[in-house]
Amino acid sequence: MKGGNTILKMLDSAQATLPVAGVALQRLRDRVESTHFRSLEDRRFFSDRILPFLAAQSAREILYVGCRSYTEDAVARLGQSGARVWTTDIDPDAARYGNGAHHRTLDITEITSESFPVSQFDMICLNGIIGHGVDADPAITKLMLALSRVLVPGGLLLIGWNRGRSSDPMGFAETRSNFEPVNMDRLASRTGFASNDHVFDMLVRSNSGTGDHRNPELLASA
Ligand SMILES: C[S@@+](CC[C@H](N)C(=O)[O-])C[C@H]1O[C@@H](n2cnc3c(N)ncnc32)[C@H](O)[C@@H]1O
Repeated sequence: MKGGNTILKMLDSAQATLPVAGVALQRLRDRVESTHFRSLEDRRFFSDRILPFLAAQSAREILYVGCRSYTEDAVARLGQSGARVWTTDIDPDAARYGNGAHHRTLDITEITSESFPVSQFDMICLNGIIGHGVDADPAITKLMLALSRVLVPGGLLLIGWNRGRSSDPMGFAETRSNFEPVNMDRLASRTGFASNDHVFDMLVRSNSGTGDHRNPELLASA
């Protein structure tokens, strides 16, 4: 959407100066934000290629990190196969885009066994968090360790991030020792785009010390 970011900035300053028009402006902002983000090449790839693949897996418990107006349909599509989809965001206002009773307001780098039990999830979708809140190297290190605690060995982790906004998540020892890149269903382990700096990495949670630790159900569809 041409000029989408500029329009969103104008709406942000209008919201700050005209709080009385808050609800109407918020609805308008949500519509512009959804239209803008859904028009981006990486978002179309996410919607047309990645989401159908993720939704077709036999996941039972999915964690979707980061909720915005344009993520509600993704959460709904992931849940269509019967999976329970949990949503999280650090921003309390984002709860309105989350999955109702299955939403938690929390910092994903700080998750503990009180937030979610160890190995609760068999799939985690982490798109647009690294570089959009979890930016510095120490925060990414904490993030990868936190994700490795709640993703079951053999579980799938999708990371969407932007070159230039953070270090490459695959450059961290905490990533390489807990996750390994996987090519699945004609989806490469890493996908980049000509029109922007977005990158998708598809990883599987490893289980150090064993042989082939990957989930046979997921590998069967590769
Ligand atoms: C660019 S949006 C990405 C939205 C979505 N995940 C997607 O599929 O595009 C970034 C979101 O991540 C949230 N966020 C940033 N840092 C976070 C953190 N440490 N823990 C949880 N959520 C965070 C922000 O509040 C924001 O809603």
